[in-house]
Amino acid sequence: MADTQSPGAFVEFERVQKSYDGENLVVKDLNLIMPKGEFLTMLGPSGSGKTTCLMMLAGFETATHGDIRLDGVSINNIPPHKRGIGMVFQNYALFPHMTVAENLSFPLEVRKIGKSEREQKVKRVLDMVQMGEFGGRRPAQLSGGQQQRIALARALVFEAELVLMDEPLGALDKQLREHMQFEIKRIADNLGITVVYVTHDQTEALTMSDRVAVFDDGRIQQLAPPDKLYEAPENSFVAQFIGENNTLEGVVKEIKGDTALVRLDDGELIDCKPVNVTQPGERTRVSIRPERVEYNKSRLHADAHTLKAEVLEFIYMGDIFRTRLRVAGNEDFIIKTRNAPDQVRLQPGTQIEIGWLPEDCRALDA
Ligand SMILES: Nc1ncnc2c1ncn2[C@@H]1O[C@H](COP(=O)(O)OP(=O)(O)O)[C@@H](O)[C@H]1O
Ligand SMILES: [Mg+2]
Repeated sequence: MADTQSPGAFVEFERVQKSYDGENLVVKDLNLIMPKGEFLTMLGPSGSGKTTCLMMLAGFETATHGDIRLDGVSINNIPPHKRGIGMVFQNYALFPHMTVAENLSFPLEVRKIGKSEREQKVKRVLDMVQMGEFGGRRPAQLSGGQQQRIALARALVFEAELVLMDEPLGALDKQLREHMQFEIKRIADNLGITVVYVTHDQTEALTMSDRVAVFDDGRIQQLAPPDKLYEAPENSFVAQFIGENNTLEGVVKEIKGDTALVRLDDGELIDCKPVNVTQPGERTRVSIRPERVEYNKSRLHADAHTLKAEVLEFIYMGDIFRTRLRVAGNEDFIIKTRNAPDQVRLQPGTQIEIGWLPEDCRALDA
């Protein structure tokens, strides 16, 4: 296949499909263009094809159809050791009989780099991950987080321009994981490397990435920056998968410009933004984020449709209040409000009216 390059593309997947058994496609039609220096996360449930995509990019699996290009050159034409790709996995497998420094020196030896240059690079990368004092230790003498830092250093030591990470923090406890998320992002930004990061943890994806590709069933369901993904999900899968979300089901009654009028299954009418509904009569799932629901009438448009709700449960969470309501037959309707001095603590049994801005309420596929 002739090499072609989209403008600004460093990593490019074009119409990529993958089947392991010649029958079922586990990657169905992957199209992705990444500029140099981007931190992109592939996020999705287990089995959605994330690791397969990473393995094809690394060259450990071949695409059944389509083309993968690195800096304009088809991956198939580059031998793996010349791809300049560093990799970090959850099971990072440092060599147990080697010291930390030897573990880091090894990939450089394989690349026939001389001793003094090796030492220099190892020192530099150890400092980068704040492990300068640990070069002489063996992996067994390090904590899990320290071992993970060395695994990261090993992927960075030969100055790869592209680093692939597959659930690298999965084995760490919450606090360390959050710390390492921050570290990895900082190091990647400082070095200007391009990162493809795989995780099933949405918080991790949202906090680390320039863009997130949400995978389901071998396809990218949406590719967007974190705020766009959270605030403007393009379909029901993404709305449910990212963050907490309230769903109300109904039928589109009319669409006028930017507003859809939806009749909920219990008969009430609400205003929404039509996202992937196109005509009256279509069934829809309406999606509203818990923090965008308003029960203080003075903050709503005078002509906004409101809904009756009954307070079922009030949960004090410190920084926020989380209140569960019954709304249009849905007993798991959650609202979140900031714990401000003048904020009302809604008591179970109270009848209230809720509303929202039409643009915060998205009519999606049913
Ligand atoms: N080496 C393999 N041989 C056959 N099937 C595989 C292989 N690796 C993965 N699969 C299948 O491909 C699908 C996608 O897997 P994978 O890419 O590992 O997903 P993820 O990383 O999103 O969990 C799954 O159904 C999985 O069982
Ligand atoms: Mg995987």
